Parts: sequence; C-alpha cells; structure tokens
Amino acid sequence: MTPAAAKAAVDAVRAHFAARMRAGREAPAIAEELARVLRLLDEVDFSRADEKHLRPSGHPVVTQLGQVMRAAESGPDDALSPILAAFLPILDALPWRFSYAPRPDMPDIGERMAWAELVGPIAPFHSRKVCLGLTAIGPHLLYPAHRHPAVETYLVVSGTAAWTAAGVTTRRPPGDILVHPSNVVHAMETGDAPLLAAYAWTGDVETLSEYVDA
Ligand SMILES: [Fe+2]
Repeated sequence: MTPAAAKAAVDAVRAHFAARMRAGREAPAIAEELARVLRLLDEVDFSRADEKHLRPSGHPVVTQLGQVMRAAESGPDDALSPILAAFLPILDALPWRFSYAPRPDMPDIGERMAWAELVGPIAPFHSRKVCLGLTAIGPHLLYPAHRHPAVETYLVVSGTAAWTAAGVTTRRPPGDILVHPSNVVHAMETGDAPLLAAYAWTGDVETLSEYVDA
C-alpha cells in the first residue's frame, strides 16, 4: 500500500466526520468526541509514513468480506461511498492485526475479525494521542465483551450488527456513529453480513483492549 492510498483512506473518514459536524445533527457527546478526533488528527504529520506498517499483513479476515464488496457494488449510501471507495481497493494491503489473548471457546476468532490501524502508536502515520482505523468482523461472529481506557468512536460503514454497550443492545445500520466512553464494556455480534466500521480512539490509546468475563 502506498502512503498516498493510506492517507486517502484516512482523509475519507476525516471528511465524513467533518461533514457530520457541519450538519450539526449529532448528539452532544458524539459531536464533542468527533471534534476531539478531528482536532488531534490535525496534529498528525501525514508527510511521513512508517513503511513497515504499509506492508500487507496477509490476514485471513479479508476473505470474510466478500459480501461487503457486493454491497458496495450494488450502490452504497452516498455519504459512505467515498470511504468504501478508499478502503475497498486496499483491503488486502491493510495492516490487519488481532491482539487479544487466545480463548479456548473461540479458537478461530483471530482469523475471522481484525482491525487495521492507519493512525496510532503502531500504524503508518504515528500518533500517541489518536488512532484511526478500520475494524472488520466476519459474518455470524460475536466480538465478546471487552473494554479499554481509550474513548472510542465507531462509524458503521457496511453491515448491520447488534451492538451492545453498558448492557444495552441495538442494531446499528451503516451510517450510524457510536461513542464508547472510557472503560465501558461493549460487544458486537454480526448476522449474515460482515461488519466494516471505521474507528477512532482518543485518551489513553496505548493500553490495549481486554476481554471482560461475562
Ligand atoms: Fe472497543
């Protein structure tokens, strides 16, 4: 993946967040966090990319995403199409990873979901204050309850999943934005469609997420 392709994917998400801010229809907690994310992204030096995070990871999660491709071909939401257009050609080239400890009840979870960070402490564009990336979850998979100190913003890009935060579950279609406050326990479960969601972290972005026993 070229630095320009990675930057274009970041810019597509930034532009979407900025447009949502201008439209002024977000809940106050979401607007406040989007503003923080955009402000911190403005501080990132996009003129330098760490080449080792631009090499394809070869992660099998990409094979789970065929339905995302087909949905995009059949005409995505106009507001999301620039994001899909930026990410779909580079899915194979993204630096996918999965850093949770193995769990015996879900031996293949690390092959069926992953995330690819483009801005962050371990990413092509370096920041210790903000992360930006893409999470992919294959069909019919529970991403079990987890938490992390960072404040997390998700933008659903493709696929409607069941999202649970602080014990409340809602189905979230493409275009929805969610904010998980620091250390709130959350989980996602996909149905027939895989989930693709852009994410941002602020606050303590260096402490990894960990599973929470149900
Ligand atoms: Fe999270």
